[in-house]
Amino acid sequence: MIMTINEIEHSVFAEIHNTHTAKELEEVRARYLGRKGTLTSVLRGLAELSLEDRREIGPRAQALRDRIEEACEDRLQDFEATSETFFDVSFPGKKITVGHHNPLSLLIQDTEDIFLSLGFSVVDGPEVETEFNNFDALNIPANHPAREMWDTFWLKRAHNTEPRKLLRTHTSPVQIRYMQTHEPPFRIIVPGTTYRYEATDARHEMQFSQIEGLAVGETVTLANFKSIITAFFSRLFAQKVEIRLRPSYFPFVEPGVEVDATCPRCHKRGCELCTFTGWLELGGAGMVHPHVFDAVGYNPNTIQGFAFGVGAERLAMIKYGIPDIRLFRSSDLRFIQQF
Ligand code: DAH
Repeated sequence: MIMTINEIEHSVFAEIHNTHTAKELEEVRARYLGRKGTLTSVLRGLAELSLEDRREIGPRAQALRDRIEEACEDRLQDFEATSETFFDVSFPGKKITVGHHNPLSLLIQDTEDIFLSLGFSVVDGPEVETEFNNFDALNIPANHPAREMWDTFWLKRAHNTEPRKLLRTHTSPVQIRYMQTHEPPFRIIVPGTTYRYEATDARHEMQFSQIEGLAVGETVTLANFKSIITAFFSRLFAQKVEIRLRPSYFPFVEPGVEVDATCPRCHKRGCELCTFTGWLELGGAGMVHPHVFDAVGYNPNTIQGFAFGVGAERLAMIKYGIPDIRLFRSSDLRFIQQF
């Protein structure tokens, strides 16, 4: 029993000293002074000893118990004194939260990369436009029924003699700005925000984004457009995509076409996304109308080119399987954190 007391005395104080938290300290204390603690069993065993042994061992065991209690008290006070500055280097670090790209940004970045590699430049223009750039120069005169294709947010004027301004209803006015300041040949894309005065639903937003394309030179053809747009969609959707051009009408092109691509989800077999047709309608395009070249001072007899416009959210919805266009600008972190 003397042996046990010596052993306890030998180790307990170092153990108390080596603790770093109140919890650790309590564990050490329990090991010696708890219900099943080593010193506790020594104290319990005293009753079975001879009077002589009891006299010798009893006081030593009790004194040791008191000293252990005291050492525990002291250590606990150490923690309280240093609790604010104590730094546990072994504690796992806190993960720093980083932001996420909106899938729309990802889509526009991918688009820019692809077109840059095809020899295009990336250009932008203002969201507040003149009536001339957004409509007139694009062969959409005032009072022409074609204007009804674009429900417009008009801006207030200080005076009604001032030219009218609006939130651009498409990225096409940047065609005008670019051609007024550059000479062909060139190839550009214009990703940008656009606005329409429309009711919103899963496929329509008042604020959305388009990617405009324009290639102008002496020999640019619709066949060039078809091969460029085939390369673009194939790379964007990471698979071989077929393109189908259907006759359509846009005032700023002649001929005008609707651009369909084979459905990247079902590969033409038919699914919900393509409403079981195998094809998706992805944008408008055509050969730049001579009136547009006139408006920017190009000679329509020597210059020709193709133009196209696609909806950026629509492409992102297809690529990432996003069911509702309103999610992009919803500020919902649960949405954004998936990308
Ligand atoms: N600007 C058109 C729209 O918003 C899309 C478009 C169609 C753009 C044909 C073009 C084009 O450049 O050639 O509805």
